[in-house]
Amino acid sequence: MTKILITGGTGLVGKHLSKELKAKGYEVAILSRNPKQENEYKWDISNDYIDEKALKNTSYIIHLAGAGIVEKRWTNKRKKILINSRVDSANLLFKKTKEFNIPLKGFISASGIGYYGGITSNIIFTETDAPKNDFISKICVAWENAAEQFESINIPVTILRTGVVLSKKGGALKKMNTPLFLSILGTGKQFMPWIHIEDLSNLFIKAIEDNNFKGIFNTVAPNEDTNSSFTKALAKVLKKLVLPIHAPSFVLKLILGELAIILLKGSRVSSKKITKQYQFKFNNLTDALKDIYTL
Ligand SMILES: NC(=O)c1ccc[n+]([C@@H]2O[C@H](COP(=O)([O-])OP(=O)(O)OC[C@H]3O[C@@H](n4cnc5c(N)ncnc54)[C@H](OP(=O)(O)O)[C@@H]3O)[C@@H](O)[C@H]2O)c1
Repeated sequence: MTKILITGGTGLVGKHLSKELKAKGYEVAILSRNPKQENEYKWDISNDYIDEKALKNTSYIIHLAGAGIVEKRWTNKRKKILINSRVDSANLLFKKTKEFNIPLKGFISASGIGYYGGITSNIIFTETDAPKNDFISKICVAWENAAEQFESINIPVTILRTGVVLSKKGGALKKMNTPLFLSILGTGKQFMPWIHIEDLSNLFIKAIEDNNFKGIFNTVAPNEDTNSSFTKALAKVLKKLVLPIHAPSFVLKLILGELAIILLKGSRVSSKKITKQYQFKFNNLTDALKDIYTL
């Protein structure tokens, strides 16, 4: 049985992916700071520790671990946690893979479309575009560089630059789905590239099963939405109202500080490369939302 080790496998994406992998007959192990289940193993990134049993016989590592980007204000301390939880963790995986001599067949890492920076414009960013200089872009660059170290020991790397993940069980939709009204943020013109969790999960599995699926991919659905079109589509599916006034940018900046950029700015991201290799189940936002809310 092929063994897949998922870091942060206890999170939104990891839980869904684990279930799908198990259904396909893979053995799944999870690295967690607080292991609870039988297949969960301890790691302690700041103390350079990984339970060796987690890595034993592993064929692929899927690196999803990372502190929540929109969970807390970006103080200097929080910024370090956001970076270290993704980068020091990948460095530790690299070190232990070599130390324990694990013959990995692939290292697959999440990244974000934040790589292209917090920018609202009509430029359509593709995988070969340069990163920007803001904090969200810097996280992604450091995260991807840490993942790419595996190539130096001839282990193929796949990196998925992911848009907003749509799932009923958590993430952005849960935050947007407030009891009465939904609100458009700032101008509402910021792009909001998204992907249904089922397509994302399929893409992580494709990175295991398809030898040609290596390198960097924007994992975003082909249909483009802005914060305004997204909020309106969500309201329609949920049969709720959209607040008649937009949530003002300055208020969000006051409440959230620098982190507000994630909500108020949004790059237009190309899905051209990924659609050459993968046929999306959910291209259209309304269909994706209906699927999520009618299950
Ligand atoms: N969800 C999205 O919309 C989205 C979009 C783009 C990119 N991504 C990226 O994709 C990855 C998976 O997303 P997700 O939504 O599944 O995330 P999630 O639900 O927040 O789960 C991430 C997991 O990372 C671990 N973690 C949290 N803080 C950590 C820390 N300080 N140090 C080490 N591990 C820590 C946790 O596992 P334990 O508590 O078990 O250790 C947690 O279950 C993340 O890296 C995320 O940034 C997500």
